[in-house]
Formats: sequence, structure tokens, C-alpha cells
Amino acid sequence: MNVHVKRGVLSEEGTEAVLLTHFEGDTCPTGACARLDAKSGGLIAALISQGDVSGRLNEIRVLYPGTDVPAKRFVVVGLGKRADVSLERIRGAFSRAAQHIRSLRVTAFSTAVDFGTVDLPLAQTAEAVVEGAILGLYRFVRFKTTDLTEEPEVRAITIVEERPAAVKTLRTAASTAVIVSGAVVLARDLVSAPANEMTPKQLARAAVQCSRGRKIACTVIEEEALRKLGMHALLGVAAGSDEAPRFIILEYRGGRRTAPVIALVGKGITFDSGGISIKSADKLDQMKSDMAGGAAVIAAVRAAADLALPVNIVGLVPAVENLPSGKAYKPGDILTSLSGQTIEVVTTDAEGRLIMADALTYAGRYRPAAIIDLATLTGACIVALGDHVSGMFGSDDELKRAIREAADFTGERVWELPLWEEYDELIRGDAADFKNSGGRAGGAVTAAVFLSKFTAGYPWVHLDIAGPAWSTKERPYSPKGASGVGVRLLLQFLRTRGTPSPVR
Ligand code: BES
Ligand code: MN
Ligand code: ZN
Repeated sequence: MNVHVKRGVLSEEGTEAVLLTHFEGDTCPTGACARLDAKSGGLIAALISQGDVSGRLNEIRVLYPGTDVPAKRFVVVGLGKRADVSLERIRGAFSRAAQHIRSLRVTAFSTAVDFGTVDLPLAQTAEAVVEGAILGLYRFVRFKTTDLTEEPEVRAITIVEERPAAVKTLRTAASTAVIVSGAVVLARDLVSAPANEMTPKQLARAAVQCSRGRKIACTVIEEEALRKLGMHALLGVAAGSDEAPRFIILEYRGGRRTAPVIALVGKGITFDSGGISIKSADKLDQMKSDMAGGAAVIAAVRAAADLALPVNIVGLVPAVENLPSGKAYKPGDILTSLSGQTIEVVTTDAEGRLIMADALTYAGRYRPAAIIDLATLTGACIVALGDHVSGMFGSDDELKRAIREAADFTGERVWELPLWEEYDELIRGDAADFKNSGGRAGGAVTAAVFLSKFTAGYPWVHLDIAGPAWSTKERPYSPKGASGVGVRLLLQFLRTRGTPSPVR
């Protein structure tokens, strides 16, 4: 997507469509919409007083202004009540509007980030506008060859700004939002890619590609070396598949040389059949999305480098396929993890925590200031919180607070669940230190408690993204399927870490 910020006035935009906003309850147009309307005979004002343009949240009205202005169409999107405006509503509304514009087969539009007085900083508002539009327009069409009725892609958005002082702010905000949304799109693409293509090797290749031409060092550890390292929990899961595992390391050092790193760890199960403890056929195809945590980490590191964030980051993605076969690991097997702790396999379908255990232990080598892991870890988390919420667990109040703040800012819902010691006995092993399942009760919690045993006391937050990683229905600015959840949250967290006094 080409996003361009230009000094000028909307009334002079000779464009296919001008996207405008209106608040519910306002009796006349405001902001940039008012100034454009004054130049086009008060068309919008008339429709507002007539009630045809109500400003209700996400209402779309397409108007044809005639010859007073060069623009061919006005698309007016409702932002709801002015007092209830939020970045999240703006993202959603611009998503809907952009989708509507695409349905008109219009491939470029102009808009302005000036809605009259709203209590939101200009830069944040502009980022929300661009993110909403880009993310709402996302489609995964790489494998479509025959759908010729498909609407053409929207290729360009022009943000027009009259106030010279605001242009620079908008340029920075727009390019930031393009990078951030681009990272979400990358994560969605990686997750949407089918498992016959998106193997551990391919995921590693994608990570290497992200590192090229950027200040990112990418190291991929292959099977033999993993064996030498002692990552036997990861290797246990990998044993059943003909696709060899990969351990992906992305290092970005944008901070001071001596500043500690932040470790991001993402589950990279490229397909989760359940293994010998095989899953039922229902929704099994969705299990190609079991590498959504890994995809989010790769995408976030790429964007952190593109944004030149002043932080040191290591991204770790254990990439493995979980399949049954004659070589597969079995219930009852005991695995010795990289940490030296032993794990009794109760079910081969609790594979995520096994590969994450070794990845979390590996993260300890960096003596990180914080470890944040993202994993489509448990169906139980979906049962507990619903499919649009990530479960949050963590050992450090300050880090949890920062993650919650980042999530509130980006609109990615997270809710904390406990790690109380009473849960410990549920994952105590009979023949080994731990077992890899604590049973049905509190399944999201016992999975997180299991992970905590491999974090070696570092400040750590675990996000169970099993629900939001894949949407079975369309959501505001997230079409059905891969959501790219976690990418914006991680970047928001890293952005506030990088700047002692937030410049937002
Ligand atoms: N990848 C799944 C969790 C999952 C389920 C993600 C549904 C997205 C949608 C994970 O590997 C898994 O199978 N977890 C088991 C754990 C159980 C066997 C202890 C689960 O949640 O049922
Ligand atoms: Mn599983
Ligand atoms: Zn899984």
C-alpha cells in the first residue's frame, strides 16, 4: 500500500473517492469534512439535516458531489458519538470504509485526519486511520487463480493536510503505520500459508528473508546442532515428521551496546495434528495456524528494525511439525529438556509447551531484561476467555502492566490468569520432573505454569493467543482467518520501552 501525505485541501483533490467522517449527534459537518462541504454546495450538511448521514458507527454513505469539486465520490463513514471516539473505533471505521471503497472498484482514495475536536493525539489518530485501512483491506489471494470477479486492490491512500505544522507529524505517523501494518500483513501471510508449504524450513527461510538488508542477524539451527545443544523436548515433538525442525534466532540490536535484550519467543508448530494423541478431524485444517506466535515474533522483529527502535531484541522461534508416524514420540515417553529438567509425555498434543520449554531455556542465554512469549497454546484458553482474548500470565508485575497497557492501546484484548502454586501439583510428573498436561481443569493455567518452569526467574510474560490468532468470523479490521495478533502489541510495547518519555 502506498500511503502519501500531502499539504493541500480535499476540495482540490481530483480523486476517485474522498473518504470523510461524521460523528453521530453532530448537526453539521466538522473538520476537513466541513471545509470540503462548503466548497461543494453543502451537500453533506443537507444530508445530515435530512438524517441520511447519521454518523452512526461504521455507517457508510456514498455521495456524488457533482462538478463543484474534482473528486468523483464522497464516502462518509460514521464514527459514532464524538464522546465515545477511540483509536479502536477509528481503526474499525476506516477499515469498513476502505473495504467499501474497494467494493466500488476504486483503487485509490484521499482522506484527511481532521475530524474536528477529538481528544486524541494527531499522530495516534493518523496511525489508527492507516492501520485500519490497510488491515481491513487484507486478503490472502496468493493461491486464487480463477476468481475473476475479485475486486482490484486499493493501491494508494493520500492523506491531505491543510495545516503546514501537522504535515510532518502525519508523515512520520503514516510511515510508522505502514511498517507496523506491513508486519501484521506479513504475520497473516505466514499463518495463512498452508502447512504443505509453510514447513519449519520455509518458516526459517521467511525469517532469513526478513533479516536481509536490515540490521538483523538471523541464525537457523538445524536438527544435528539441536541434538548437540540438547533440545530434546523440541526434538521429541519433531520426531514424527519428515519435515526437519528448525530453531530460528533473530537478533536486532538497536539499543545501546550494553543494554540488555528483550527476548520474544513464538510457538512455531507449522501443523499440529496432535501427533500419536491425534486430534479429531473437526477444524484440523485450522492447525496450520499453530505457528502464529512464531509469525508474530518474526514480523515484530522485522518492523522493530524498520522503525529503528532503540532497543535490543532477540526473537526465538522453535519451528516444528507435529505428526504421528513410526518415529513419532509417544505418550509415556520421557524427554530431557535443554534445561536438564525431565518431562513425561502424557499427550503428544500438548506439544507447544515442549518446544516452548526449550526455546524459553535458550532465551536465558541472553540474560534478557524480559521474556515475552506468544503461543497458540491451549484450547482451554478459548474456553476460559472466548476466541478474541489472549490469556496473559507472568512472573513480573511491572512487565505485565506494560504488556497490558500496550494491548489496551492496540485493541488486542488480553486478560490475566493466575499462576498460583496450587497448580504445581497438577503438572508434577510420576516418573519425571513434570508431565506435559495437567488435565482438562484449568488447562490454560497449567500450560502456563509448565512454561514458567523453564523461565529461570527472568521477568516473563506468556500470552496464550490460541483464540485470537485465527478468526472464524470477520472482525473489525481483521477479515476471517489469520489475524496477525500480537504483532502490534509487541511493537507498541517495544516502542514505549525504547522511548523513556513516550512521544506519542
Ligand atoms: N495448538 C493446540 C491449541 C489450540 C487449540 C490452538 C485450538 C488453537 C485452537 C495445542 O497444541 C493443543 O493441542 N493443546 C491441547 C492441550 C491438551 C492436550 C493438554 C488442548 O488445548 O486441547
Ligand atoms: Mn497440540
Ligand atoms: Zn499446538
